[in-house]
Amino acid sequence: MPLRRLVSQVAVRPSSLVLPLFVKEGISEPQPVSSMPGVVQHTRESLRKAAREAVDAGVGGLILFGVPAVKDGRGSAADDPGGIVQLALADLAAEVGQDTVLMADLCLDEYTDHGHCGLLTAAGEVDNDATLARYASIAVAQAVAGVQVVAPSGMMDGQVGAIRAALDSAGYGDVGICAYSAKYASAFYGPFREAAECAPQFGDRAAYQQDPAAAKDGLREALLDVEEGADIVMVKPALAYLDVIAQVAAAVPLPVAAYQVSGEYAMVEAAAANGWLDRDKTIMETLTAISRAGADIILTYWAAEVARKLS
Ligand code: PBG
Repeated sequence: MPLRRLVSQVAVRPSSLVLPLFVKEGISEPQPVSSMPGVVQHTRESLRKAAREAVDAGVGGLILFGVPAVKDGRGSAADDPGGIVQLALADLAAEVGQDTVLMADLCLDEYTDHGHCGLLTAAGEVDNDATLARYASIAVAQAVAGVQVVAPSGMMDGQVGAIRAALDSAGYGDVGICAYSAKYASAFYGPFREAAECAPQFGDRAAYQQDPAAAKDGLREALLDVEEGADIVMVKPALAYLDVIAQVAAAVPLPVAAYQVSGEYAMVEAAAANGWLDRDKTIMETLTAISRAGADIILTYWAAEVARKLS
């Protein structure tokens, strides 16, 4: 064991893990997400407690997703100062803001009634440039509420530049951007759409997310985001895209994050529940592989549990 430890080159560190958390408006008890055993949609109160526990366990950051009670065509709740995500961010900023990095997903799909990540044209297509103005406004609303890093996940062209400009001109130059740069049109997001109640009501996201077969797109998108002012670039999903993580880590002089997404979590939990996989070993092996590929930061639903185990 000591020899293995001496010569091993990869270690999963609690402080590199980020825990995704869901908060839902209008519920009085946390709601389990059936396709993600162990994950819940939080109330504001249970969110605060879960955040405190995760931070005490040693995780490096939290990323918040809001589920509003009312959705509409333009995703109005996303930048409403009284919207669930803004209220919950303020709660978390007060509770753990000094002890962790408070991040928020910045997108429209949780807030629109059609479930797409952007505004739609009359013809029902996503309107890239009109969406940028919405993202800019959401970024400022999240900054006012106390976010430290915004994480735009909608894959609109120019989103990082638009958000950077909006934050700077509103006086939030110190709020960072973790860009979902290489985000693939993936079946592994299935369970998340239950957790965030954001399945597209028609069509899919393939028009704005990347084709899993396009081998060079991930790096190109990451480099564009660097030019636009990203502080962290992210690859998503993680385990099926280790080659992309490695390419991005080799070429981008910024911290690289990888998102071990809902489907990756669900697969392991389901197999382990059947006794088909050793749950704990499988979890650590996946996190080690993602680190080995070059991820400096890993978003994972197991973040708090793993951090607790490692510390
Ligand atoms: C979009 C968003 C998604 C995820 C994170 N941000 C869903 C999607 O793009 O369809 C997926 C995360 C996961 O599957 O765990 N706001």
